[in-house]
Amino acid sequence: MTDDFLTRLPKAELHLHIEGTLEPELMFALAERNGVSLPYADIEAARQAYDFSDLQSFLDLYYQGMSVLVRARDFEDLAMDYFRRAAAEGVVHIEMHVDPQAHLSRGVALSEVMEGLTAACAKARSELDISTAMILAFLRDQPAADAMQLLEDSTPWHDHFSAVGLDSAERGNPPSKFQEVFARARELGLERVAHAGEEGPPSYIREALDELQVCRIDHGVRAIEDVELMERLADEGTVLTVCPLSNVRLKVVERLEDHGLPTLIDAGLVVTINSDDPAYFGGGMRDNFAACQRAFGWSNETLKWLAGNAIEAAFMDEERRQALR
Ligand code: ADE
Ligand code: ZN
Repeated sequence: MTDDFLTRLPKAELHLHIEGTLEPELMFALAERNGVSLPYADIEAARQAYDFSDLQSFLDLYYQGMSVLVRARDFEDLAMDYFRRAAAEGVVHIEMHVDPQAHLSRGVALSEVMEGLTAACAKARSELDISTAMILAFLRDQPAADAMQLLEDSTPWHDHFSAVGLDSAERGNPPSKFQEVFARARELGLERVAHAGEEGPPSYIREALDELQVCRIDHGVRAIEDVELMERLADEGTVLTVCPLSNVRLKVVERLEDHGLPTLIDAGLVVTINSDDPAYFGGGMRDNFAACQRAFGWSNETLKWLAGNAIEAAFMDEERRQALR
């Protein structure tokens, strides 16, 4: 483990898709275990294929990659593989989006997903001193009725979820489509977050706030196009979970130096740094912080402030928060 400032900085990760932590090495091992065939000749060929033009071109490979996840043990191995890497980078808390619909549609039961992930979360706490939270994510490019069905069918697992979320293809799938589902989640006592303003327009961020009553916006970087919206986000202290390397790899921005992060910070927004899908986007939490430090010349003070924002905004009990402050 490198013992530098960024590694030692206690980092909480609020925006991570657990299926997006599947490294090609484990993908090939699980493909063999489960007799699943992959469209790549070898591990190197898989990595070479991770050359994306936009969100959809990534999602196509992301959904294909997870075909190797079949049994509870696979989900446990997936999460533990990531938790170990994250621990080595100084990550102390992880909130993971889980995409059950992407598994149910392949005939994998929710119990397989949840038994595996909850076992890994227990081990993360006891073996790695990492606390975790889970976010039940709805695929926004699927019908709202399917999301509602999942919300009801996942009742036995609700205690394991801190929040519901909204992910997958953003364009043409506005937050308002899921207004009833999020209202029901609220009734059930679940917090709410949503991807908005990654590829979608600033109006999707407003919709997520007004119609879904979210407490955090995942990405939200297109808020820079709307000064009034930035003022509102700053006034309300709404947290943005920004994913710098993801935004570069999915061509939300051309180069990290062009990213709106400094503008968002200058406008007074509460931003956090996250990895999104580290196996696909070329780096974990430490790499995301390091890339920003290089691109924007941030001081250690700024890096500490960003890491602190995530600890304050995390779904964790106050005792844990106090211990991590
Ligand atoms: N699912 C996994 N990663 C995603 C992203 N960056 N945006 C939307 N949906 C996702
Ligand atoms: Zn995401």
